[in-house]
Amino acid sequence: MSRLVVVSNRVGPLKDTGRAGGLAVALVDALTQAGGIWFGWSGEISEEGTFGNVRRVGSRKVLLATLDMTQADYDAFYVGYANKTLWPVFHYRLDLAVFDRHAEEGYLRVNDRFAARLRSLLRSDDVIWAHDYHFLPFAASLRAMEVENPIGFFLHIPFPAPEVLAALPNAAQMVRRMLAYDVIGFQSRRDAANFRRFAVEEIGAREADNGDLLLGSRRTVVRAFPIGIDAEGFARQATTPDARRHTRRTEKLLAGRQQIIGVDRIDYSKGLPERFRAFGRLLEDYPENRGRISLMQVAPPSRAELDAYAEIRRELEALTGNINGRFADLDWTPIRYMTRSFTRRALAGLYRASRVALVTPLRDGMNLVAKEYVAAQRAEDPGVVVLSRFAGAAEEMSEALIVNPHSAEEVAANLQTALTMPLDERRDRWQALFDRICENDAASWAQAFLAALNNQGNGQEEKE
Ligand code: UDP
Ligand code: G6P
Repeated sequence: MSRLVVVSNRVGPLKDTGRAGGLAVALVDALTQAGGIWFGWSGEISEEGTFGNVRRVGSRKVLLATLDMTQADYDAFYVGYANKTLWPVFHYRLDLAVFDRHAEEGYLRVNDRFAARLRSLLRSDDVIWAHDYHFLPFAASLRAMEVENPIGFFLHIPFPAPEVLAALPNAAQMVRRMLAYDVIGFQSRRDAANFRRFAVEEIGAREADNGDLLLGSRRTVVRAFPIGIDAEGFARQATTPDARRHTRRTEKLLAGRQQIIGVDRIDYSKGLPERFRAFGRLLEDYPENRGRISLMQVAPPSRAELDAYAEIRRELEALTGNINGRFADLDWTPIRYMTRSFTRRALAGLYRASRVALVTPLRDGMNLVAKEYVAAQRAEDPGVVVLSRFAGAAEEMSEALIVNPHSAEEVAANLQTALTMPLDERRDRWQALFDRICENDAASWAQAFLAALNNQGNGQEEKE
């Protein structure tokens, strides 16, 4: 059987350490089932960088193979182009995007270097699957080194409308490079449509009836593969002793009050200030909630070396202070804001103790937290999801209360609906969501993508 070679910037860990980020979580589930190699950055900076030894850490089925970066690579590739250019542009934040030729060159160089080092680990029948915005041109780098294996790509974040992407210098070249992949997967139909439209309008690709893109002699499959979680596994996690301890501790603290929960890396795409304001608006517009409802926000810091991230953190601290100062009472704190991470098992327990999940990103590829919250609920007394229309998850989760995260008034009104929703309605909505999340889980996501890649790999060969 051919091996699966997964490529992503962050590699592992295979255990639930509480390091936040949807990509790593999804890949652990996929790789431990299929077996293979997980190749990427070691997380270390060294003088040799990508020229140093490949670090190898083995588990029974999965070999983690990683490379260091030099400080210059890290600054240009990770901090620079990936996170100061691509991340803001792909999340519709042109106001935050920095366009720097030097960073772009570093990004392309690191893609070439990773490709060169991966090449020497490859067998001819390996199937390669690269992930996320760090590796847009990775297949183009491998093809230039005469690697002919099937290569697929999955983008975990949104793909912006062509009108937005056009602002990125050399966007057309980047998209042309992406078409060296055999299969490109997106989180939502909207993302896939944006990509097709850019390719057709800006680089003259042709769209086939089934949505594939044709450019020169190459065909690239372009489709939405909405990512899932191991829903049944996560539901079981919620009943482990560790999760139960977290549920109990929270319930004890709440003493009969109810809680709304948010769980997000501190990132400007997550709409956290808007969320805090919307919660303030709930206390303002529906005063019966004062003293009775609190917001627990789990917010592990992320990419703290970037100014935009440090700034959002300061803003959240100020907002928490304002809202708590204004509404708190002797025995009640409105917002419990924690800038730390929890293991997913602990989170499962916290989700269970919360009547509402408030998931209000301004833009998000999918948002796994929304799905995890559903999976962790008690069937007999489940909570309600209030979900941004701008999360990929909204395409699949129509039984959530779908909101515009920019409108504090609308979010507050939907929170009030969620908090007062009768048990029957909560159950009906939850059951529909839970069934769908179990059906479209992490395993079926990986299987669907890999089936498309295996098919297309064969098709491409026949044509030549
Ligand atoms: N997560 C975690 N510990 C935390 C906070 C988050 O393990 O303290 C996990 C969370 O359970 C989820 C992932 O990080 O699986 C976040 O994924 P999501 O798609 O919601 O957002 P991303 O961080 O990828 O933008
Ligand atoms: C999101 C991205 C991932 C990234 C993660 C954490 O989930 O899609 O690619 O790994 O955030 O961000 P970081 O910059 O710490 O890797």
